Amino acid sequence: MKPRKSRLWITLSGYIALLLTVAAIITVAIFVYEAADNTFGDNRGAVAAIMLVTVFFLAFVCAIADGIRRKIMVNRPVDKILEATGRIAAGDFSVRIETEHPYGRYDEFDCIIDNLNKMAAELSGNEVLRSDFISNVSHELKTPLAIIHNYASAIAGEGLDERTRKKYASVLVSTSARLSSLVTNILKLNRLENQEIKTKKIPVRLDEMLAQSILQFEDKIDEKSLALDCDFDEITVRSDPDYLELVWNNLISNAVKFTDEGGSINVSLKREDGRAVVKVADTGCGISKETGEHIFDKFYQGDTSHAQEGNGLGLALVKKVIDVLGGEISVESRPGKGSVFTVRLREEQ
Ligand SMILES: Nc1ncnc2c1ncn2[C@@H]1O[C@H](COP(=O)(O)OP(=O)(O)OP(=O)(O)O)[C@@H](O)[C@H]1O
Ligand SMILES: [Mg+2]
Repeated sequence: MKPRKSRLWITLSGYIALLLTVAAIITVAIFVYEAADNTFGDNRGAVAAIMLVTVFFLAFVCAIADGIRRKIMVNRPVDKILEATGRIAAGDFSVRIETEHPYGRYDEFDCIIDNLNKMAAELSGNEVLRSDFISNVSHELKTPLAIIHNYASAIAGEGLDERTRKKYASVLVSTSARLSSLVTNILKLNRLENQEIKTKKIPVRLDEMLAQSILQFEDKIDEKSLALDCDFDEITVRSDPDYLELVWNNLISNAVKFTDEGGSINVSLKREDGRAVVKVADTGCGISKETGEHIFDKFYQGDTSHAQEGNGLGLALVKKVIDVLGGEISVESRPGKGSVFTVRLREEQ
């Protein structure tokens, strides 16, 4: 916020007021001198005394006027700002202060107040995000940890037959793998959000990458008897294959996870207006409008019936990666009919 015009006017009007005051004082002093000189004539001592009293009186009036001016124009906003910064320093981010002048006539103090209000709003937003994040992470950690604790206790106890012991051990393996992937995802997201990563820009054959990603889900696709249709143009982009892989894996894993047995998945790669366009479409459960507004939020899982699979971090990661790589992602979906996720990347990035 820099209302330059009004600031310039306020500074100018300050100078004009000072100039007029000094001119008025000198004029008054001259008039008093004239009057004293006419009245007392040769008595120079009386004239000097009158001038001395006049100068002291005028100086006194100026000091009072300046004090009042400072109180209104400087001390009042400074006191407000001091009080607000004190509260912010003590952790109270709800603080908001009113500007001294209406918008459009802001002076420097109003600009500071305006920035302070924005800073407090930003900090309170961050605080909410931070505490939400901590409670989400704690919740997501607690569930697998409880499973591990219970199954490990059962294995440590007496009287388990070999088959049950093996079954419990395999639960331990899969749950600890889930825990480890949760922690890895949180770390990746954190690094992406703090912009701590430097992405590579190397030639990547997207069609080959997509084929590789799909291969990883072959067993699941067979298990659910899903029909898979792929249609890839040969396209090379300059990007970071490690992060792109994360995008394809998450989108394909969602398509597989949210499509019921017998459904179909279609993955395509086409060239459109100098951009590589990847579409991952499925005939799964689809996404309602309300769910669609949050799917890229951390830890958001639209349908709780799928809550045991994953942590709602996949699409948050995908969105961050696409932002960092300078691409675009969008989704079209109809509940009960299926979803299409579209990723656009510039061909020569
Ligand atoms: N292809 C899809 N079809 C239907 N719903 C989807 C699809 N992809 C995502 N969603 C919805 O968006 C939510 C968020 O997806 P996201 O990938 O972030 O989390 P997740 O798959 O539940 O967990 P994770 O990715 O951590 O394993 C999902 O829980 C689901 O409700
Ligand atoms: Mg997912």
